[in-house]
Amino acid sequence: MIAATTIQIERTTNPKVKPQPDKLGFGVHFTDHMFIMNYSAEHGWHQARIVPYQPITLDPAAKVFHYGQTVFEGLKAYRTEEGRVQLFRPDMNFKRLNRSNDRMSIPPIPEELGIEAVKELTKIDQDWIPDGAGNSLYIRPFVIATEPLLGVHPSHEYQFIIIMSPVGAYYPEGINPVKIFVESRYVRAMVGGVGEAKTAGNYAAGLKAQEAANEQGYTQVLWLDGAEHKYIEEVGSMNVFFKIDGTVYTPALNGSILDGITRNSTIQLLKHWNIPVVERVLSIEEIYEAGRTGKLEEAFGTGTAAVISPVGELNWKGEKLVINDGATGEVSEKLYDNLTGIQYGKLEDPFSWMVEVK
Ligand code: COI
Repeated sequence: MIAATTIQIERTTNPKVKPQPDKLGFGVHFTDHMFIMNYSAEHGWHQARIVPYQPITLDPAAKVFHYGQTVFEGLKAYRTEEGRVQLFRPDMNFKRLNRSNDRMSIPPIPEELGIEAVKELTKIDQDWIPDGAGNSLYIRPFVIATEPLLGVHPSHEYQFIIIMSPVGAYYPEGINPVKIFVESRYVRAMVGGVGEAKTAGNYAAGLKAQEAANEQGYTQVLWLDGAEHKYIEEVGSMNVFFKIDGTVYTPALNGSILDGITRNSTIQLLKHWNIPVVERVLSIEEIYEAGRTGKLEEAFGTGTAAVISPVGELNWKGEKLVINDGATGEVSEKLYDNLTGIQYGKLEDPFSWMVEVK
């Protein structure tokens, strides 16, 4: 196997006009360059290159189109007030990418090489990191199975690609509380399935329920467990936390929930502040019971795209539960301020999470 040690760089001769920082949306605009690397059974990962952002050409028989053999990641680059560019815990993304790869029978990507590719691409397109509070450069690494063969077997050929997008808030609500519909009919994942992997099918499977929730005025869907429809899993674009009587609870990782990096960081921050935090099986009934008895103090979601998103209302089988009068709670706000404070270099980074791009 030939290791991909050097990244060839071809710069664009036709840079694009950058969007206004107050009109970014999420994942709408893309930077001038992208990273690509190929895999073949014979050569391993090879031909690492940064090229002008462009469409890719694939054979219509490429396995990704038919059998969904693909995984992705999401991380962000931030610019500090002093002009430094930094990434948030990129090692965690590449560790998780490789766990997803393993589940989807995709060969691993050397972690160091993945991080190096992100750093190089971010350096080249650093002028695309948008100004403005809460804005950042969203980085989307992904792997696709490219072998043109319709037999149902793991592909022998892949592409690993990184694209980047200057983004604002993920939800139209910004950092205001979102309304979430608790899904009782459809399920996202089952233990033993691929729920823990960051793979496209998990997201496609959620679209129908999300559309129905949107039609009723809810931003997202809260998924319950696939077997009994009783236990809380995640929101699909974020993990969830509930503060009940002074303690913060989040569903324990069980194989069907995404092992979120913001989830992990949130738990670390709460422990650092001596706020009790418990990871365990959580039923939707106990959350509603805590709401009915006035013990449910806050709910919020965590994610790279969503950051910390307060939840102002749940709807489960038609019963609405308004949380904290629909306002942002104290812990949610403290988490948002501290996490973004660390990410944008305004606060000390006690966990050494940030990695500078130089
Ligand atoms: C992320 O937070 O990076 C995600 O992957 C969530 C979503 C945009 C799919």
